[in-house]
Amino acid sequence: MGDAISDVELAYKLYAREEAGVFPVIVHHFESGKREMDLKSGHLAGAGVFGMKMLGFCSENPQRGLAPLAGLIVVMDVDKQQPIGILDGTPITFMRTGAAGAVAARALARKDSKRVLIAGAGNQGRAQLLGLATAMPALEEIYICDIIDENSCRFVNEQNGKFPNLQLKAVPYAELAEIAGQVDIIVTCTRSREFFISKEWIKAGTHINAIGADMPGKQEIEPELMANVRLFGDSRAQVIQKGECQHAAKSGRISADDITEIGEVLEGMKPGRRSEDDITLFDATGMAIQDLIVSAKLLEKAKQLNIGLEVEF
Ligand SMILES: NC(=O)c1ccc[n+]([C@@H]2O[C@H](COP(=O)([O-])OP(=O)(O)OC[C@H]3O[C@@H](n4cnc5c(N)ncnc54)[C@H](O)[C@@H]3O)[C@@H](O)[C@H]2O)c1
Repeated sequence: MGDAISDVELAYKLYAREEAGVFPVIVHHFESGKREMDLKSGHLAGAGVFGMKMLGFCSENPQRGLAPLAGLIVVMDVDKQQPIGILDGTPITFMRTGAAGAVAARALARKDSKRVLIAGAGNQGRAQLLGLATAMPALEEIYICDIIDENSCRFVNEQNGKFPNLQLKAVPYAELAEIAGQVDIIVTCTRSREFFISKEWIKAGTHINAIGADMPGKQEIEPELMANVRLFGDSRAQVIQKGECQHAAKSGRISADDITEIGEVLEGMKPGRRSEDDITLFDATGMAIQDLIVSAKLLEKAKQLNIGLEVEF
């Protein structure tokens, strides 16, 4: 995860410098919500690679003992225009998304942040925890809250021994509003299609990582809150179209001009947090350049060490 965080930070910076780019995402619904595929592609000319990630989603797979999401990443060399490698898309997606949240929180959250709420105790809940624990060692308490209370308890039991410097606590869903008003950082990572984080709960100075909404129709945050925070995103075009910002944009509360890309902050081109009282929000939709840079660096390392690759996640 430490490597993935540096890699994703580099990808965002290259994107801000126009040394990286993404191409339009292709989505096809075989059966909406049940069987879907998407193709994300891009280049990092500044890092000498281009390529794509192809993912399939099938909601019935868990009953078959298969992962709901699976796919491949193909990395190509810009100079020679030759393939460098093909990787399993699932562990890379896990790592690069956890890294995205970590990069954004490290750049935008208050430096004295200690307490985090993670809403959604699924795969991304784990990835986001690993990312934040790696990037922000001064964090002290992590609250996990899932719409299914049993999921939060299972998550805490599973993750407890892994982070000796952190206190992990499961919070009943009935107490979500209360805990959301007490923490320094909130991460939302669910498949929700209606908002469950309300404007009135959020105190000044909070940073929010909105990770779950990465497709049209998905939603986690009240649009009125989106209109009253300082907005950051991975790609301005993507967050307006399919990120958490889509809903506030559709109702005319915000426009693309209100969004600062995280790479612009990391490169010092635009300001990030301006005061201890700002509420900052990072909207992540996921970019092929994150997958490609993490994959390319892993392949490079494996080649140097002359080893096979297995990412534990
Ligand atoms: N932004 C990105 O780059 C990116 C990358 C990967 C995944 N995602 C998205 O993140 C979301 C989560 O993915 P995942 O793999 O962790 O899913 P998952 O199914 O493993 O976990 C989701 C969890 O959220 C819980 N949940 C649902 N509604 C909730 C609510 N209102 N409040 C609290 N908890 C709730 C579920 O019970 C479940 O435990 C998906 O929408 C996925 O597409 C985004």
